[in-house]
Amino acid sequence: MTESSRTAAADWWRQASVYQIYPRSFADANGDGIGDLKGITSKVGYLQELGIEAVWLSPFYPSELADGGYDVADYRDVDPKIGTLADFDEMTAALHAAGIKVIVDIVPNHTSDQHEWFREALAAPEGSDARDRYIFREGKGENGELPPNNWTSIFGGPAWERITEPDGTPGQWYFHLFAKEQPDLNWDRRDVREDFLKTLRFWSDRGVDGFRIDVAHSLTKNLDEAYDALTTILGDWSIFEDGQHPIWDRDEVHEIYAEWREVFNSYDPPRTAVAEAWVPKPHRRARYASPESLGQAFNFDLLVADFDAAEFRKIISENLEFATESGSSTTWVFSNHDVVRHATRYGLPSVHGGLNDGFSGGNNGKQWLLDGGDPAAVDIELGLRRAKAATALMLALPGSAYLYQGEELGLQEAGQIPDADRQDPAFFRNPGVDIGRDGCRVPLPWEPTGSALGFGAGTAHLPQPEWFADYAASAQEADAGSTLAFYRRALALRGELQTEEALAWQETGAADVLHFSRPGGWHVVTNFGAEPVELPAGEILLISTPLVDGKLPADSTAWLKR
Ligand code: NOJ
Repeated sequence: MTESSRTAAADWWRQASVYQIYPRSFADANGDGIGDLKGITSKVGYLQELGIEAVWLSPFYPSELADGGYDVADYRDVDPKIGTLADFDEMTAALHAAGIKVIVDIVPNHTSDQHEWFREALAAPEGSDARDRYIFREGKGENGELPPNNWTSIFGGPAWERITEPDGTPGQWYFHLFAKEQPDLNWDRRDVREDFLKTLRFWSDRGVDGFRIDVAHSLTKNLDEAYDALTTILGDWSIFEDGQHPIWDRDEVHEIYAEWREVFNSYDPPRTAVAEAWVPKPHRRARYASPESLGQAFNFDLLVADFDAAEFRKIISENLEFATESGSSTTWVFSNHDVVRHATRYGLPSVHGGLNDGFSGGNNGKQWLLDGGDPAAVDIELGLRRAKAATALMLALPGSAYLYQGEELGLQEAGQIPDADRQDPAFFRNPGVDIGRDGCRVPLPWEPTGSALGFGAGTAHLPQPEWFADYAASAQEADAGSTLAFYRRALALRGELQTEEALAWQETGAADVLHFSRPGGWHVVTNFGAEPVELPAGEILLISTPLVDGKLPADSTAWLKR
């Protein structure tokens, strides 16, 4: 099937390849050091050439950037630092003309503390409707000087912040799962629900094709009865029955999404949504992916897995089964704006792994960052080889595949950002424990030389290490052996070969080698082992590392036509 005929169908999202853009770090058209919407428009040709079918834009809404834009001050506008609504329309039109769908990020758990509702809440008295849109509580202790409980926020530090009342006295506390600039909304309120329905219609009316829903599993909460049941928010889920955790994955969250679904389905074609829901049990995750709810959910299982044949096979089989049960298609992803880039993770010795903080388990690179993030500690060649093998395997799986900007260049994590330049609230709120996520958000190198390596005329808002020049897109465009050329070929072939149909595992007789086939004689072999292996007979369509003596080398994937 050609790319344009695939994205023309109403169910385009089921098998789409989706490219995540972190707008502030993609391309900077006006030279202020911050990527913008015009920058994205200027790269539509690049995206089309890459062969992706949709883009997902991380938040571009007005924001004080306390959390990289995930602190939204106005859900129905564009940050003036990034552009205007007219720029948004122009960008959407250009992407659509290139056959590329547009997915935007919706952040419903919390607003920015600069949102007009929160300002109103601070100015209004206790017990007012304005306060009730958020989660305000009295403090403990004689004068309410202690937080309502001892929970820590996900970014570290207390999950409660005390306010100064309009009369100047210390007052109530509000709850924030993330940074203190991100107060949590009270989703029990009708006006909160109505406002988000309005936002979904606003962007759908502007031609947006789908939505990515931030922390989709945390909207409804039951804080009152649960104060003492948990010591931390990220505490043990298993002490609660499914759906009864005071914060995460409560059953009634789907009542919200049932209303959203009505909005999505009122458009032709229906708007799509994908839940970011780090829900450990796959059968619970499947609820977000049901057609009555958001329709699709991120599956981070491969992202947190080791590079291991048995682990990959188990995860793939299970998730394909769950997707079938939920009536959705599954999703796959290795990198995004929250985790250490997979080309780096796969090149780290296991001594740097081990921290499991819920964003990424196993060898997640967080310890390496804490140890100084030295590129010399990374086996860059191995990391990239494995990353390409894993991505080639992913792109051959049924379901939609999510790619993160820069991975098509084989870009490594920038582990050594000076403290003074860091932006991630996790770095500031959790000193010595979390370095934060800035290293995967450094502006892209478009050119090997020049101002901000072609990102824009100004100084990039996060510094690019010198070695970023080696990954420049323009140099890779001219090199048939580059990582970019590999991604382009893989995505083009996927566009032709991908179908909804299941895969069939083929026995390989080797524990370290996975082989599956797809309809149309498409065979995929990944060698996770240390020694080269014989490939089955067939025409080689794609290979992630050149053959060695006719064999598939270690840490490599081949696509064959048989
Ligand atoms: C998940 C987003 O991916 C992350 O970047 C953000 O910090 C949190 N949600 C809070 O919105």
